[in-house]
Amino acid sequence: MSDTTTHIKNITVVGTGYVGLVSGTCLADIGHMITCVDVDTEKVANLQAGKIPIFEPGLERLVKHNVEAGRLQFTTSLADALPNSDVVFIAVGTPSAADGRADLQYVYAVADEIGRNLDHYVVVVDKSTVPVGTATEVEARIRANYAGEFDVASCPEFLREGCAIDDFFAPDRIVIGVRNDKAGDILSDVFEPVKGEKLITTVESAELIKYASNAFLATKISFINEIAQICERSGADIEEVAYGIGLDHRIGPKFLKAGIGWGGSCFPKDVVALDQMAGDSGYDFKLLKGVIEVNQEQRMHFIQKVRDTFSGSVSGKKFGVLGLAFKDNTDDIRESAAIDIIQQLLNDGAEVVAFDYQAKENAEKVLDGSIEYATQPQDVAHGADAVLVVTEWPEFKHLDWKVMRETMNTPILFDGRNLLKPSTMQEQGFEYYSIGR
Ligand code: UDX
Repeated sequence: MSDTTTHIKNITVVGTGYVGLVSGTCLADIGHMITCVDVDTEKVANLQAGKIPIFEPGLERLVKHNVEAGRLQFTTSLADALPNSDVVFIAVGTPSAADGRADLQYVYAVADEIGRNLDHYVVVVDKSTVPVGTATEVEARIRANYAGEFDVASCPEFLREGCAIDDFFAPDRIVIGVRNDKAGDILSDVFEPVKGEKLITTVESAELIKYASNAFLATKISFINEIAQICERSGADIEEVAYGIGLDHRIGPKFLKAGIGWGGSCFPKDVVALDQMAGDSGYDFKLLKGVIEVNQEQRMHFIQKVRDTFSGSVSGKKFGVLGLAFKDNTDDIRESAAIDIIQQLLNDGAEVVAFDYQAKENAEKVLDGSIEYATQPQDVAHGADAVLVVTEWPEFKHLDWKVMRETMNTPILFDGRNLLKPSTMQEQGFEYYSIGR
C-alpha cells in the first residue's frame, strides 16, 4: 500500500468503459498508481497494446504517456490488483433494465468479488451512476464475505463525452459522498491535485446529486425545445429567446440549445432511472415524465416536418444525412436521435446516405447495411431530395453549402441542430427548415 505521508495512492479502477478508462487515466496523470481491471480479455489485451476502444480527444496520448511512466496498467484480474490497493473505484456499466431501472448486476458482481478477495482496509467507491441505496447494498455484499474494516463511498462522475479529459482536470465540483472522516480524507487526498470545489456529502446525497444533475440538464433542453415549439407558432426566434434567457445569471446560457433533443449513454437512462427511483419511493415525479415525453416528441416533430415538406410521404425520396453520433466530438451512437431519425426515414421507404466524422463504424453495427455512407460530408448532397443536419459537428457549419446545393436534386435543407443561419441558407437558394425559428 502507498506511503500515507504522500498524496499518491494505489488505486484499482474496475471497468474500462468511458468513465473507468478516462478517470483511471487521468488519476494516473495526477500521480497515482492505477490498475484498470476489465473482464473483457480482448479489451484488456488491446489496452495493453496501446489500442483505445473509444474515440475521446486526447485519451490515447494520455494513456500512452501514463503507461510509459509506469503509473497505469491493465489487467483482467481484480484479485491480483486488490492486495495492493488503497482505493477501489467501481466504474462498470449500469445499463437500463427492461423497466427503466438501473441494472446493477455488474456493480454487485464487483462488490461480491471484492468481498471474496479483500484482506486489508480499502475505500470502495461507486463511480458508476447508481441509484440511492446502492452503496449500502455494496457494503452489505462486501461484508457478507469480509469481516475486516473497509469503507464505501460515492464519487459520481460528471464527464462529458468529447471533452472528458478537460472535464476531469477542470471540474465544476468533485462530489465525495462518505460515511466518515477517514474515507473523506483519503478521497480528498486522491483528488487533491485537481482544482475545483470538493464537496463532502453523505453517500446518499452524492448518489442523488448525479441523477439530479443529469435530470436537470435534460429538463433545460426539453424546456428550450418546448419554447422552440412556441417560437414556431408565434414567429419568435428560439436562438434570440435562448440567448435572452441565458443572460440571466440565475439561468445561465448553457444547455439551452434547441434541436432534436438529448441522447447518449447517460441522459436517457439516468432520467428514466430517476423517474423509476422516485416511483419506487412512493413519489410521482411528474415534471420528469414531461421532460422524457417532450424529448421523444421532439424527434417526431422533426420527422413530421420532413414528411410535411414532401406532402406527407417520403417514400422513394433520397436523403443526405449529416451526423450519426448522439452529439459532436464522439463516436457514440447510443440513444442517438440521428439513428432514430434515419430508421424512421427507412421505415417510410426513403433512401439514406449518411456521413459522420467518427461514428460510422458504430452506426454500421446497428443499421446493418440499410444505408450508404459518404466518405466526405459534402457527398451526401449528391442527387438528394433533401439534406438533414442531425448531429452538431461544428465542421458542418463550414461546408461549401452553395456547391452542395448545386449537386442536389431539390435544394431542401432540414437543420435539426440550428447550426446554420436561416438568412444565409436562404440567400444560397435553400428551402431551409430549422428548429424554433
Ligand atoms: C452528460 C452530462 O453532461 C455529463 O455531466 C454526464 O457525466 C454524462 O451525461 P454527455 O452524455 O457526454 O454528458 O453529453 P452532453 O454534452 O451532456 O449532451 C447530451 C445530449 O444533449 C446530446 O444529445 C446533445 O446533443 C444534447 N444537447 C446538449 C442539446 O440538445 N442541447 C444542449 O443545449 C446541450
